[in-house]
Amino acid sequence: MIRARVIGAGACLPSNIVTNDDLAKKMDTSDEWIQGRTGIKQRYIALPGEKTSDLALGAARAALADAGIDAGELDMIICATTTPDESFPATATVVQARLGMTKGAAFDVQAVCSGFIYGMSIADSLIRTGAARTILLIGAETMSRLLDWEDRTTCVLFGDGAGAVVLQAHMGTGTNADQGILNTRLFSDGRLHDMLYADGGVSSTQGAGKLRMQGKEVFKHAVTNIAAAIVASAEAANIPLDQIDWFVPHQANQRILDGTAKKLGIDPAKVVSTLAVHGNTSAASVPLALVTAIQDGRIKRGDLVLLEAMGGGFTWGAALLRW
Ligand code: ACO
Repeated sequence: MIRARVIGAGACLPSNIVTNDDLAKKMDTSDEWIQGRTGIKQRYIALPGEKTSDLALGAARAALADAGIDAGELDMIICATTTPDESFPATATVVQARLGMTKGAAFDVQAVCSGFIYGMSIADSLIRTGAARTILLIGAETMSRLLDWEDRTTCVLFGDGAGAVVLQAHMGTGTNADQGILNTRLFSDGRLHDMLYADGGVSSTQGAGKLRMQGKEVFKHAVTNIAAAIVASAEAANIPLDQIDWFVPHQANQRILDGTAKKLGIDPAKVVSTLAVHGNTSAASVPLALVTAIQDGRIKRGDLVLLEAMGGGFTWGAALLRW
């Protein structure tokens, strides 16, 4: 059985760090409020002119170098983003051109904060059916451009960045011992649109709009939905939760991470959190956390790793991998 295995991973962050104290100089907020409510201490914010494709390209190059392959070996590029450079073409095609990749296909995936999980599910399907052998999957965002900087209840939560993985076909036995993606589970519920959305778009306002959120409602749904996605993925593989080595969640709020771990009886030490340094980087947050835990030596070959996310739509999902 063909499995999609991660053969390399990389990240890229803007050089500009903005701390909670920096924000408190510009608006009525405080380090104490932001850290206490969310766990966020700082975030990276793109400099003027720095685009999503710049961050995506940086992460792509780092992932390719880590995999030890060059762009010519890629069959596809999938970029998960809510903040593309332009309404079209896809940011993935901008990365394709800048990597010098002249064959294959490149396209974007829009599932907001769940985009990387959705992209991983698509890449897994394409690799397992033999439609592609090697796929570069990127999560990249400049969320700072979609924020209403007059709205202190949302603008303090988000940051910019990009993470990427290279997935490659690998022959497995069809058991849970195989390296690679064991399963993915995707969900959405469009009825919950009003809880988290951007109040603009090409066909409605001809602009990108600004992010709007009902924080308390999002919080409640996040814990329930993320917990359900984790259970669905683990049950599909018939793996008890306590056998999973690492949980790599979408980094929305430390209290969502803690609440989900508590609900499912997961040891908090197994939950990777980069909220303090990255904030919420939407589709980039899972790969940024993943790269952090690989580079600091926590995630090792053979470990069971569960990635999960929830975002606007609502969309949510999980992916279970043997590293
Ligand atoms: N600084 C200081 N005070 C603030 C700030 C701020 N940045 N923002 C709000 N406040 C004030 C409010 O005005 C309010 O004051 P009041 O009591 O005088 O009216 C008080 O703090 C409490 O506000 P709430 O909105 O009730 O705060 P809450 O405890 O719900 O926390 C938060 C807000 C952090 C957004 C929380 O609801 C949350 O984390 N929700 C989850 C949403 C999330 O993580 N979204 C990310 C995107 S979705 C995703 O990625 C899954």
